Amino acid sequence: KIPVIIDCDPGIDDTMMLTLAYARPELDIKLVTVEAGNLTIDKTTYNTLSFLTYIQKEVEVAKGIEQPMFRKQEVAEDIHGEGGLGNVKWADPVLQASDRTAIQAMCDVLMNAEEPITIVATGPLTNVAALLFAHPEVKPFIKQISWMGGAAVGGNMSTVAEFNAYVDPHAVELVFRSGVPIIMSGLDVTHKAYITRDEMTRLRNLGTPFAEKVADMMNFYTFTQSQTPFNPPGFEEQIRVHDVCAVACLVEPELFKGDDYFVEVELNGSLTQGATLVDFAKKTGKEPNVHVLHTVNRDGFIDLFFNAVTTVGKT
Ligand code: BDR
Ligand code: CA
Repeated sequence: KIPVIIDCDPGIDDTMMLTLAYARPELDIKLVTVEAGNLTIDKTTYNTLSFLTYIQKEVEVAKGIEQPMFRKQEVAEDIHGEGGLGNVKWADPVLQASDRTAIQAMCDVLMNAEEPITIVATGPLTNVAALLFAHPEVKPFIKQISWMGGAAVGGNMSTVAEFNAYVDPHAVELVFRSGVPIIMSGLDVTHKAYITRDEMTRLRNLGTPFAEKVADMMNFYTFTQSQTPFNPPGFEEQIRVHDVCAVACLVEPELFKGDDYFVEVELNGSLTQGATLVDFAKKTGKEPNVHVLHTVNRDGFIDLFFNAVTTVGKT
């Protein structure tokens, strides 16, 4: 089994990432921590508890830090809806948030682990950065950090910055410099891991109440994503479930291709904050610190996604 801690900010695609994580028997989910990101921390915490209650999973859910390290908070309700999960209501939470903070809980779980743990992070990295800053002693107990965020080319918050990197670039910087192995599923790969509208219809036709809710949530997301300006032709037909890649690349690594590069993040650029600069040309002479994914086998990804919705829909 692969032991993991999941740090997320649900968010529509974060719930799809949780779906895949809970569908896969090879993952042992030790802890879920919640980030502020797509929404404020109270909303992302509520959504995490609500979704996990619906899919009937019991796990410690610990609430994280409520704002980015230095920058003013920005949320993405325009994409995920005011509540954060489109128009879908999952369940009134029965599960409650832990008494421990995300940082305390991550630290304890890591320090007591029998083997190094993988952190799956699908938000702005504030919690993970704070953990590494306050408790560097945990580093040997982290196998790797699989992060959805950044982009070698392009952006979705600005021309050059992806949302998670844009929201808390200082956190990203701390994590990039930590020495802990990192897998980055940036927009380069997540934009290739899309679902078409036809596939969404097939998904709805799985016929379970769960699949129906997923399809409803996706419908909302398709619309909000399609409103993004400067979409290339055909883009509005593609539903991008970014965060799912951060788990998919752990459970089916053969679907993905990537390379090791030195990557840093722009902190201060007045036009470019949050841009992740990938040293493609290997000109900086600096040692690679990030495994950057750039390609996915989309057919395999769709199978994996459908299987996850089918499996979780049975519970
Ligand atoms: C990322 O930003 C968030 O809106 C999504 O949940 C994902 O983590 C995509 O840029
Ligand atoms: Ca997210």
